[in-house]
Amino acid sequence: MDDPIKQRRSIRRFQDKEIESEKKEKIFEAARWAPSWGNLQCVELVVVEDKGMQKQLAALLAPKNPATRCVALAPVVVALCGMPIKSGYYRDKQVTRYSSWFMYDLGIVSQNICLKACELGLGSVIVGSFDHQQAETLLKIPAGCELVSLIVLGYPDHIPPTPKRKTVAEFVHYGVYDG
Ligand SMILES: Cc1cc2nc3c(=O)[nH]c(=O)nc-3n(C[C@H](O)[C@H](O)[C@H](O)COP(=O)(O)O)c2cc1C
Repeated sequence: MDDPIKQRRSIRRFQDKEIESEKKEKIFEAARWAPSWGNLQCVELVVVEDKGMQKQLAALLAPKNPATRCVALAPVVVALCGMPIKSGYYRDKQVTRYSSWFMYDLGIVSQNICLKACELGLGSVIVGSFDHQQAETLLKIPAGCELVSLIVLGYPDHIPPTPKRKTVAEFVHYGVYDG
């Protein structure tokens, strides 16, 4: 496999084929080793493999979200949750300008999951646009924990074209930003 960082694409169509449990374990092991604020590991994952539950989740996606069908039908949907109070805080006090470092920790876990999936020949798509409150109720997420995104996993049914990226020169600033 070439560089999974470049090879990974958001996949929204999957084969009707289960993911082997060893592969799922490898993906969750990759999630486990993500760095986190103070190593507090605020992330909690809910693995959804029940098609009835997946259909209910799919119904909560924003209208026309291109991931709706795959949330309902893919072999696995992982709900990524985080404990806001466990990231960016020291002794229960917010210690930087940002109160949302848990989003950062969750982002790194997401990338570990998607890259490991790619390395294992699996496809993934991160889904962030849905009714979070209703999804939290559906998945019985406890108070103090927030559901942020879903990651859909499965064997890809097709490889979409590569979307354009900025060139390095367009976003890397040497020395100071506006030099
Ligand atoms: C935080 C986040 C939220 C996203 N939410 C959605 C979503 O709700 N539905 C969807 O189809 N794709 C979603 N995506 C996938 C992006 O559309 C996709 O990553 C982007 O178009 C670049 O394509 P690539 O992943 O193939 O490189 C999301 C990606 C990220 C990082």
